[in-house]
Amino acid sequence: MKRKRITADIFSSVSRHYDIFLNLITFRKIKDWQMTMLKEVEGAKTLLDVGTGTGEVLLQADPQALRVGIDLSLGMLKIAHKKCSDCGFVLADAENMPFKTSSCDAITLSLVYRHLHNRDQFLKEARRVLKPEGKLAILDINKFWLTPLLVFFMKFLIKPLGLILFGREKWEFFIHSLENSLNEEELKRELEANGFKVTKTQKRLFGIVYIVSAQRI
Ligand SMILES: C[S@@+](CC[C@H](N)C(=O)[O-])C[C@H]1O[C@@H](n2cnc3c(N)ncnc32)[C@H](O)[C@@H]1O
Repeated sequence: MKRKRITADIFSSVSRHYDIFLNLITFRKIKDWQMTMLKEVEGAKTLLDVGTGTGEVLLQADPQALRVGIDLSLGMLKIAHKKCSDCGFVLADAENMPFKTSSCDAITLSLVYRHLHNRDQFLKEARRVLKPEGKLAILDINKFWLTPLLVFFMKFLIKPLGLILFGREKWEFFIHSLENSLNEEELKRELEANGFKVTKTQKRLFGIVYIVSAQRI
């Protein structure tokens, strides 16, 4: 599908500088947030990190656990593999995961949920792959009052500049991933409509970032 190919291409093209960039734009807080997310799935013997990117989440996870990451981007996975040779990495789509039913204790997603094309399909898959009462922890950017304003600017006022600097595909991808962000209430509703119970929400960076913990019902 075209949008997934674009996602994979974009992340592969930025993969070499991704970690430095992410550290900078999160004021070096990303690892703390990921650790907070990992605390929510502590004790998991099999951990699946969806949209694992360069593998930072798995690198910080319990080395005793079976750690597996999937991603659409081969470029990101190659870097992940170099960093964590004990982890398993698979080029796969979150919406159609190549894992057995009830095979996994916990699933994490760091900065991925809003990139998913069909979130209901992903949640259906997550529910299938997780064991009963398995845990799902999602770290992402909250939709806040500035989001619609930013989208308006990007769609209309600074669109020509964006198209020149990044090209149409990347620019539309940036807009879409902003538009696709959810506030915690919206995320909670989606999770609950798909067979998960939300157990905790934690906020960071003045509420711009959230970590939502849920359990398969
Ligand atoms: C913003 S990066 C986050 C990477 C990493 N989790 C982190 O926190 O640094 C989003 C990642 O999700 C991946 N991704 C997006 N849609 C996906 C899908 N449907 N299936 C698997 N991976 C996906 C992208 O390729 C990209 O590597």
